[in-house]
Amino acid sequence: MNTQQSAKPIRLQILETLPIVSSYARTRGPSFVMAWAHRISGLILAGYLLFHLLTLSLLADPKLFEAKMSTLDIPFFVFLEFFLAIPLIFHALNGAGLMLYESFGKRDNAHMLHWLGSLGLIYLLLLGLLMGLGGQAVSALLFGMVVLAGGLIVSGYAFQKIWWTQNAALWKVQRLTAAFLLVVLPGHMLFMHLNPTLGHQAETILARIQLPFLQFLYLLTVLGVIYHASYGLYSIIQDYVGKQLLRLGLIAVLLLFTVYLLFLGLRLTFFLA
Ligand code: HEM
Repeated sequence: MNTQQSAKPIRLQILETLPIVSSYARTRGPSFVMAWAHRISGLILAGYLLFHLLTLSLLADPKLFEAKMSTLDIPFFVFLEFFLAIPLIFHALNGAGLMLYESFGKRDNAHMLHWLGSLGLIYLLLLGLLMGLGGQAVSALLFGMVVLAGGLIVSGYAFQKIWWTQNAALWKVQRLTAAFLLVVLPGHMLFMHLNPTLGHQAETILARIQLPFLQFLYLLTVLGVIYHASYGLYSIIQDYVGKQLLRLGLIAVLLLFTVYLLFLGLRLTFFLA
């Protein structure tokens, strides 16, 4: 039996269990729902990026930072942090699937969904296990080297596949940043949850971002994620806002938002260290 035919009802069955989503899955198809889920997860991540950079800005006053961290150290926020991994891993894997399709022109939604579900689940279980264990020792430098090497290999491969295509340069850079982030962001999240002190103790964080190699990795990550998110928001505005004046206004707001994120990210990388 054809895999796609046999798997389609399963995809629909899953989507049909979800309120609101089910009617779109039936009338517009699972691909439509997935495209929207990708968009919504991108928006959630962009919101979190702002919150994350604002929280880390408090490192300018280590006592204030640690006081804020201790208010976030209650089970509710720990769960929230874990659940943030869901939009991240969904967006990352679904984005990777989209890029594979763009590079090889082959789309098999059924296989794609199985990979997305299985890899996503493995990642979440691993993250949950590490968060539960706590207190794991690891060399930040070694971890950073592995993550950077992985990010560069994947984005180098993406570069080969897409750079010489006819697409706009800005679009290509968004795909390259996506390929880099695919390794670096899930890696960063795993690292930060190996041990609670890694992300909660001002002294530990400041010592880490003073290491030139990690500073370089953080710089690439900050620039990559801000570009990727801003271009993504720009394409959402272009797709949905028809009125020219409103569109220009929103693009101007987005530009200010991007500059603000860059200010926060670069200050964190270079001036708080
Ligand atoms: C972790 C690795 C990531 C990968 C592999 C990835 C991949 C992608 C891809 C391929 C697209 C284009 C979708 C399309 O044109 O239909 C996209 C869009 C987008 N991404 Fe990401 N992304 C990642 C992380 C992030 C992060 C961390 C953010 C926010 C801080 C983000 C925000 C967005 C936004 C807002 C869009 C536009 C939504 C859309 O057009 O569908 N992404 N992403």
